[in-house]
Amino acid sequence: MSTPAARGNQPASNPSTNAPFDFLDLRAQFATIRDEVMQAVNKVFESQQFILGSEVKQLEDEVAAKLGAKFAVGCGSGTDALILALLAEEIGEGDEVITTPFTFVATAGSIAYVGAKPVFVDVDAVTFNIHPELIAAAITPRTRAILPVHLFGLPSDLDPILEVARKHELIVIEDAAQAIGSHYGGKSIGTFGQYGCFSFFPSKNLGAAGDAGLITTNDGKLAERLQMLRVHGSRKRYYHEMIGTNSRLHALQAAVLRVKLRHLDAWQKGRQERAERYRRLFEQAGLSDVIRVPSRPPAKYEHVYHQFTIRSPRRDELKAFLQTRGVPSEIYYPLCLHLQEAFAYLGLPEGSFPEAEKASREVLSLPIYPELPDALQDRVVGAIAEFCKHGDRGYRA
Ligand SMILES: Cc1ncc(COP(=O)(O)O)c(C=O)c1O
Repeated sequence: MSTPAARGNQPASNPSTNAPFDFLDLRAQFATIRDEVMQAVNKVFESQQFILGSEVKQLEDEVAAKLGAKFAVGCGSGTDALILALLAEEIGEGDEVITTPFTFVATAGSIAYVGAKPVFVDVDAVTFNIHPELIAAAITPRTRAILPVHLFGLPSDLDPILEVARKHELIVIEDAAQAIGSHYGGKSIGTFGQYGCFSFFPSKNLGAAGDAGLITTNDGKLAERLQMLRVHGSRKRYYHEMIGTNSRLHALQAAVLRVKLRHLDAWQKGRQERAERYRRLFEQAGLSDVIRVPSRPPAKYEHVYHQFTIRSPRRDELKAFLQTRGVPSEIYYPLCLHLQEAFAYLGLPEGSFPEAEKASREVLSLPIYPELPDALQDRVVGAIAEFCKHGDRGYRA
């Protein structure tokens, strides 16, 4: 994801022809909540309670209530959320966890980090999420869990995933890092599996002022294990019942997140409106069959558009062209996880997961955030139209 640091000091929005603008402008968001955030942060400084404490507890309660989960446990990052969930299940050496190869590295990295083996299953060509029908064939006696990712803010197809998990007595750990606020069949994602893992990395739909994460669960015993694991396996200070780690959520982050949580619904609506507007503009420009634009998902799925990701068979040329027009875009993700050097030991050659590999060659994410000005959105679509006019038949061929 684009980090605020990487974005430099360009003007937040500049509708003049080719002036470059930001892929994500977090300053526009901050301008709308500056006073609330500063007050909340100030309160933490006055209290001098920086680690866990009441601010964190209140955030946990508020997130749990918002999502309809019984418990929420804050932690250091989305990566830690995944690791803590795996540790809580004592998943490790000799175990296998089924997941997608088309995701951010932390998904499979966490599995490998606890000593287990990531077992990849190809994705659905339209949703980019793990293909539920391919999961059963990947299950072995060593399989302990399924770890679906709700990529780009679109829920995975959870019903068949839960069904196969039930049938084979597997745990489901949802990687909901990119999808807070989205729903599947009217229910919040992150509440379907035994664990829902969230990231509050600053560029996420609900972003902290640094690293932060959270795990939801409906099981009180699991919540207690997670609470212990994040503080060196202890319930009582200096008494340790298990080996844990230090992954505590900071009060300053919780204070910022509590302010932002109050705005999440409105921001989500803003992202959804931006997505609809993109669809309309692409349709009007006659581009819908040259590039692939994310279609409106069936009513069962609520997409929260962490990313708005199009596809083009000439993706790299398109990206380079957009850059000449000052239009930013990002590739999430250019290399599938099974082809990463870090996972070479799995011995999975190119061609193992054709849909995921094709997606990694064709995807291009366009700027989307609630405050994105119409004029900049017009420039994105205008520049893509200009590229296509120069003979790109794209998927029309
Ligand atoms: C799908 C996915 N999983 C896990 C993570 C890890 O979250 P974090 O960066 O907070 O450790 C991220 C975010 O970066 C992500 O996008």
